[in-house]
Amino acid sequence: MTGRTRTLVYFVAVSLDGFIAGPDGDFSMFPVEGDHIDMLVRDYPDTLPGTALDALGVTAHNDVFDTVVMGWNTYAVGLPHGRASPYPHLRQYVFSRTHAKHDGHADVQVTADDPVALARQLKADDSSAHIWLCGGGRLASTLLPEIDRLVLKVNPVLIGNGIKLFEHGTSEPPRWTLHASVAYGSGVVVNDYARSGHAP
Ligand SMILES: NC(=O)c1ccc[n+]([C@@H]2O[C@H](COP(=O)([O-])OP(=O)(O)OC[C@H]3O[C@@H](n4cnc5c(N)ncnc54)[C@H](OP(=O)(O)O)[C@@H]3O)[C@@H](O)[C@H]2O)c1
Repeated sequence: MTGRTRTLVYFVAVSLDGFIAGPDGDFSMFPVEGDHIDMLVRDYPDTLPGTALDALGVTAHNDVFDTVVMGWNTYAVGLPHGRASPYPHLRQYVFSRTHAKHDGHADVQVTADDPVALARQLKADDSSAHIWLCGGGRLASTLLPEIDRLVLKVNPVLIGNGIKLFEHGTSEPPRWTLHASVAYGSGVVVNDYARSGHAP
């Protein structure tokens, strides 16, 4: 996914019914074994937490993503487990209006800046790697106007209710162009969409 144009990519696991987690933030229903995981390790090591890279003996090259942006709730998932710098190989930005810089790790920029303005600023950086929007649904709603690509890892599970892919409704024309769709033996289908009118 390298290229000259630096883009914001919402790369996320989602259920068949459009949830990225259950009501309590649990996403353990998404399978963590299978050939789609082999693909992630091979093609998207930049999206693996540092602890997983270490356990697997894999190195992230930051050639797909060199920056990750997260909402506070997404970042907070790792805190009870001691993961205050979940992606140490990436530049990490966490959006919050209620938490300050000292609530995060020294490697993590906790910011109350406007996410749209910061995304535009990051896109202007001189880099061929992209910006990963990790989640969650609330931040994705705010950043929707700046999302260039949607890479949905569609998991063969129904959650019923919980945290939606986009937490709020949108008045945007919902036109996206499917550029690739790969089905894995695990039942996960990875759909890669670009905003219509944008090159993949
Ligand atoms: N399936 C997946 O691949 C995946 C990926 C990522 C996350 N998740 C799940 O998603 C859940 C979190 O999603 P979520 O929608 O609840 O929350 P979220 O988007 O991760 O975080 C929301 C928080 O981010 C801050 N924020 C959002 N917009 C902001 C803005 N414009 N300016 C400043 N701060 C802003 C606010 O923090 P403050 O309240 O502190 O101001 C807000 O409460 C997690 O439980 C995680 O399990 C799943």
